[in-house]
Amino acid sequence: MDLQLKMITNALFLLLVSSSATAQFGVFDISKYGAVPNGDITEALTNAWSDACASTTPSKVVIARGIYNLKQIEFKGPCMAPIEVQVDGTIKAPQDPNQLNGDAQWIKFTYINFLTLSGAGTFDGQGANAWTQNNCAKNKSCKKLSMNFGFGFLNNTIVRDITSKDSKYFHVNVLGCNNITFTNFNIVAPATSPNTDGIHIGRSTLVNIDNTNIATGDDCISLGDGSKQITVLNVTCGPGHGISVGSLGKYPNEKPVEDFFVSNCILNNTDNGVRIKTWPDTPATITVTGMHFEDIKMINVKNPIIIDQEYCPWNQCTKQNPSKIKISNVSFKNIIGTSGTKEGVVLICSSGVPCEDVMLTDIDLTFNGTSAAAKLSNVKPIIQGKSLPLLNSLLPIP
Ligand SMILES: *[C@@H]1O[C@H](CO)[C@@H](O)[C@H](O)[C@H]1NC(C)=O
Ligand SMILES: *[C@@H]1O[C@H](CO)[C@@H](O)[C@H](O)[C@H]1NC(C)=O
Ligand SMILES: *[C@@H]1O[C@H](CO)[C@@H](O)[C@H](O)[C@H]1NC(C)=O
Ligand SMILES: *[C@@H]1O[C@H](CO)[C@@H](O)[C@H](O)[C@H]1NC(C)=O
Ligand SMILES: *[C@@H]1O[C@H](CO)[C@@H](O)[C@H](O)[C@H]1NC(C)=O
Ligand SMILES: *[C@@H]1O[C@H](CO)[C@@H](O)[C@H](O)[C@H]1NC(C)=O
Ligand SMILES: *[C@@H]1O[C@H](CO)[C@@H](O)[C@H](O)[C@H]1NC(C)=O
Repeated sequence: MDLQLKMITNALFLLLVSSSATAQFGVFDISKYGAVPNGDITEALTNAWSDACASTTPSKVVIARGIYNLKQIEFKGPCMAPIEVQVDGTIKAPQDPNQLNGDAQWIKFTYINFLTLSGAGTFDGQGANAWTQNNCAKNKSCKKLSMNFGFGFLNNTIVRDITSKDSKYFHVNVLGCNNITFTNFNIVAPATSPNTDGIHIGRSTLVNIDNTNIATGDDCISLGDGSKQITVLNVTCGPGHGISVGSLGKYPNEKPVEDFFVSNCILNNTDNGVRIKTWPDTPATITVTGMHFEDIKMINVKNPIIIDQEYCPWNQCTKQNPSKIKISNVSFKNIIGTSGTKEGVVLICSSGVPCEDVMLTDIDLTFNGTSAAAKLSNVKPIIQGKSLPLLNSLLPIP
């Protein structure tokens, strides 16, 4: 090799080595994009995201400690490489719901592969003002307020350590995602805040929620149609309305719900514990199968274990025809603690398609110092272990 060529190849080699060494993580700090504490960071964050998302090597958008204001934003992919958004500050939504222009979510992450949302920061939906405008309990076609987060059509995503606070409506909506994990995630809102569901999942596969505290005014976790392979592990819920599958059956074209595993959870002073709810008298005919609830502690929970196939809040339906949703392969195992009502176990299944393959193992719930009772309709569960006393306490169905 002649000397000149050798020098060029050496230089090229060095260039390659050094570029791969610095390519570890491109950092896109929003302070370099003009963001200042107490200011509005919408534009800075939008620009930092665009640059990070266009990076062909892994990148990280950084929001350092401090308080910031943010209008509606969509973090949209696909991006060229894995991307992280690290938030250590507190980000506040506009208080006035009208400033969110009717957007379903304040913050959207969509069409991204390998996204991580991390940091010790808080997303504050500042919902108190909006909650007073929520009339959904009375008005079926009420105007929907904005949720804090929409995670839509994401693959291989991790959300960790951050806090979602005082959302105007649901805190988190997960839609069309494949492999998304929430870990050490926190959700905080008052018990009295209306429709502030914690994490709602729909049309998604492989969703994990672990080591998470949820205190809010509605369901802590709820599964909509098309949820598959969902795992909830070591979650504390309360105040709130519990961990729910459904409500299902209200809309045509719903997809089945499969494989839900809930374990090592605490439900503390919640309205419900673990629940499956379907509407009666609707056209939907999907199946719900593989629902497993294990090692759960109930503290003063009004309905610790409940299947309700006559779910019809605010008399929004008639009960003339039974639900057509078939529920099967359901197990409740080692569920202990205190019930807030005499009916610790309520399984009201559909007279049209009775529940099948339901197991109650080691259910040990007390109400006011005595064993809680069970109410069963259109279901013949296998009852075993510490659950046996339930057999002596079956309540009549009205
Ligand atoms: C996510 O995965 C699905 C199914 O493999 C694929 O069709 C889609 O393009 C992926 N989305 C992104 C943003 O990579
Ligand atoms: C229900 O809410 C919608 C949307 O805000 C509104 O247009 C309608 O007038 C409300 N209906 C009643 C009966 O309040
Ligand atoms: C899910 O996504 C995480 C984070 O990107 C990744 O580490 C893991 O391998 C993925 N799991 C599957 C089953 O694809
Ligand atoms: C359960 O989650 C909490 C955080 O919510 C964490 O502090 C605790 O270590 C977790 N427990 C286990 C056994 O992982
Ligand atoms: C249950 O909630 C009460 C407050 O409502 C709290 O004092 C208590 O520590 C919680 N218990 C557990 C085990 O989380
Ligand atoms: C019940 O569900 C579990 C997990 O969801 C599954 O592994 C098992 O095969 C199912 N059993 C039946 C009889 O379908
Ligand atoms: C709880 O038990 C006590 C003592 O057994 C009884 O006096 C009281 O009426 C019970 N309360 C309810 C709500 O059943």
